[in-house]
Amino acid sequence: MKIIFYKLLAIIFIFIHIEKLFANEINIYSHRQPFLINPFLELFTEETGIKTNVIYSKKGLAQRLKSEGENSPADVILTVDIARLYIYDDQKLLSSIKSKKLEKNIPKHLRSPDNTWFSFSKRSRIIVIDKNRVNANSIKRIEDLANPEWKGRICSRPGSHVYNRALMTSIIAAHGEVEAEKWAQGLVDNLARRPQGNDRAQVKAIYEGECDIAIINNYYFGKLKFSEDPKQREWIKNLLLIFPNQDNGDRGAHINISGGGVAKFSKNKESAIALLEFLTSPKAQKLYGEINFEYPVNPNISPSTELISWGEFREDKLPIIKIAELAPLAQKIIDRVGW
Ligand SMILES: [Fe+2]
Repeated sequence: MKIIFYKLLAIIFIFIHIEKLFANEINIYSHRQPFLINPFLELFTEETGIKTNVIYSKKGLAQRLKSEGENSPADVILTVDIARLYIYDDQKLLSSIKSKKLEKNIPKHLRSPDNTWFSFSKRSRIIVIDKNRVNANSIKRIEDLANPEWKGRICSRPGSHVYNRALMTSIIAAHGEVEAEKWAQGLVDNLARRPQGNDRAQVKAIYEGECDIAIINNYYFGKLKFSEDPKQREWIKNLLLIFPNQDNGDRGAHINISGGGVAKFSKNKESAIALLEFLTSPKAQKLYGEINFEYPVNPNISPSTELISWGEFREDKLPIIKIAELAPLAQKIIDRVGW
């Protein structure tokens, strides 16, 4: 009797193990908040039958992946900002993968040269003004913010935040270190107050009359416009968006990305690649605009109607990897000018 019982137990154990081995499931380490990523994953599972488990954390996931080494359960990494994505690449935590679909759906300047990371959506760093206090035609370029004309009228979050550090790298790439530092100094000289708060706080400061001009990521405009908090909806009443550097011959507005890659020791690479491919598919690409007011990377997909209504924008085609490579120099400049 006892032997039969143990045999039965062994069979059940093996069965569970086989089930696990063949279960089509992937584990995602995500820096993206669940409410942003879950709608994509639900669609993905619906389409492919591949289930997803998400471990979400704002910080520390690269460290965790590194210490887990070959035993890591992670299959896919999802994150926002090229600087964060680059850390995974730099620490050799990503697989180089071959995918015709990813090559076709993502422009070259938005993926890694060695096929380790890929962009799925774009966000633009734009200028916002109070349209009653600033002439809309007086600011056309990000460079204009260093013009002494704007002394005491600009609000900004600290320069060392990744969004501003990335913007700083784009100016270094366009003008070189010396000119970039002059720009940063000019911007700091024009600030209405000590750099503080997040992007939304800058819009609030414009609303409250503390300043007239600020730099924000484009999607915050949408978050405020459709906020559940009526006060936040009020903040944008007199706000005008300026996509900088749009004139013919100019380089376009600075952008950053959300993106991801396949974990180096993923045990389920095929399904992991399937998720990355899905994120660049028309359905998912449209969702980025609908959920978070981000632009598609796939050139065959047009932005959401809401995004189009904010104005046409052309992006700076600087290879996105440059933003990560120039980040340390950008930080030095930011420290020197006290941004
Ligand atoms: Fe953000």
